[in-house]
Parts: sequence; C-alpha cells; structure tokens
Amino acid sequence: MNLVLYGFMGVGKTSIGELLAEKLNTEFIDIDEVIVERTGISISRMFEKYGEERFREIENKVTREVAKKNNKVVACGGGTILNPENRRHLSKNGRLILLTAEPAVILDRVQKQGGKRPLLMVDDKLARIQDLLAERHDKYVEAADLIVETSWETPKKLAEEILASIEGFQ
Ligand code: S3P
Repeated sequence: MNLVLYGFMGVGKTSIGELLAEKLNTEFIDIDEVIVERTGISISRMFEKYGEERFREIENKVTREVAKKNNKVVACGGGTILNPENRRHLSKNGRLILLTAEPAVILDRVQKQGGKRPLLMVDDKLARIQDLLAERHDKYVEAADLIVETSWETPKKLAEEILASIEGFQ
C-alpha cells in the first residue's frame, strides 16, 4: 500500500512526504519531479511551451506508472487527483491523504519557495488561490481517506500525526 499525499500547491506535500518516507524507511516519489526528469524541462516551461493539456497527459501517464508501485510515499501535483482516472489508479493500491492550508498561508509558502507555479502567474495571486480552491474543494474532499490541516504545524509534527493516524489503515 502506498501513502499518497495530495492537495493544493503549498500545502506541504513534498516536505511532509520526505519526512514520512524517511520515518517509514521507504522511497519518496514526487510525481512532478518524475515529470521533470522524464521531459528534461521544468513544469513552468512545459506549460509555456506545450500548454496545460500536454502537461496533464504526461502527468496521467506518470501517475499510472507510479500507482503500480508498492509501499512508497507519493506526492501528487496539485491537480493530479482531479482527474478521475488518476484518482482511481492511485486509490487502488494506496491511501489518499489530503493536505489542506489556509489561502494566505499557501500564498506565503509559494512566494517563499520562489519557484514559478504556472497556475499562479497572475497579479492577484490570493484571489486565484481562493478561486482554484473553491473549484477543487469537493473533488479534493471526496477522494480523501484522511484530511490533515497543515497551516499551523511544522512538517515534522504533521508527519508524526499522519503516522499515528495511518496505523488504523492497515
Ligand atoms: C498544479 C500544481 C503543481 C504542478 C502544476 C499544476 C496544480 O504542483 O503539478 O504546476 O494544478 O495545482 P504542486 O502542487 O506540487 O505545486
């Protein structure tokens, strides 16, 4: 069984996922990272050059492959789970953990990370985050085996919280 972390940009999927994998002594797989390795270009460049649709096709292919693995910690991109096919593949052999955070916290984190998020390349980023969250809310929540709010705790504390909660999953 894989542990699959998903949710919006900036909710801590990568930082918490790395800690979880370390604690569970297993491999951490970041779907965005696999996409970048495969294609040899950054995600923002891919959006620019080939468009979001092409990115979603590659994301779909990579997700299908990653979902076949076992006992890994997997971090999705913010949009991965919105595709019902991706969700189906990942939940076949995994438990789906939704990470959430307040819009202002998300904005603060993505700005600090400095990396370009193609979907947030607008003037009013907070409004864009709020709109996308509202649009995605139901699909995010529907897919979750566990929901963890990340705004006010450290990744370390949250990883411990998740480990305690997943004991009941086996
Ligand atoms: C996306 C989130 C990004 C990346 C792409 C699209 C989204 O991943 O997959 O920019 O649709 O929310 P992170 O959530 O890791 O930033």
